[in-house]
Amino acid sequence: MTWETLESTCKNCSKCALANGRRNVVIGRGCKTADVLFVGEGPGENEDKQGIPFVGQAGELLDLALASIGYGEGDYYIANVVKCRPPQNRNPEPDECEACLPYLRAQFALIKPKIIVCLGSIAANNMIAKDIRITKARGTWVDKQGTLFMPTYHPAALLRDPSKKADMWEDLKKVYDKLKEIRA
Ligand code: URA
Repeated sequence: MTWETLESTCKNCSKCALANGRRNVVIGRGCKTADVLFVGEGPGENEDKQGIPFVGQAGELLDLALASIGYGEGDYYIANVVKCRPPQNRNPEPDECEACLPYLRAQFALIKPKIIVCLGSIAANNMIAKDIRITKARGTWVDKQGTLFMPTYHPAALLRDPSKKADMWEDLKKVYDKLKEIRA
């Protein structure tokens, strides 16, 4: 699949009920040849308005963390498990994730990242294992067929509980160091 096909397929998608309430399909942002793919849950209100992922408060915090650690814009791409906003920002339902995951898999196939960072439990449960608990699994590498997965907190969790910040910074630094190691 090409990016053009993927984008037009997503924009015309009506595979689940989330399509009914969307203003925009939120596909992704960042470098399309990046070594790191960040995966969140689903678009919120600002993302739905702008058609770009992680542009609200949680996204600002993520961008700040990445820039302060040293990530450059060419290092990462950001997408979500579901590409349309769930009403009232509820968690996406399993059938909605199931319907949308082929698009994320297509993004993975196009980008070919070496590392996937799962932001929060919805991403980790859909991409690593159904029973993963973020508080336990965060900061630990999971190797799946040569791709390294790093589960960590969703940045929105840090807005609710700033005491989680140090842990998330540590996880993002671990990913950055691995990126350097892979490239060396
Ligand atoms: N939260 C997410 O999981 N994704 C976004 O794009 C914005 C907020």
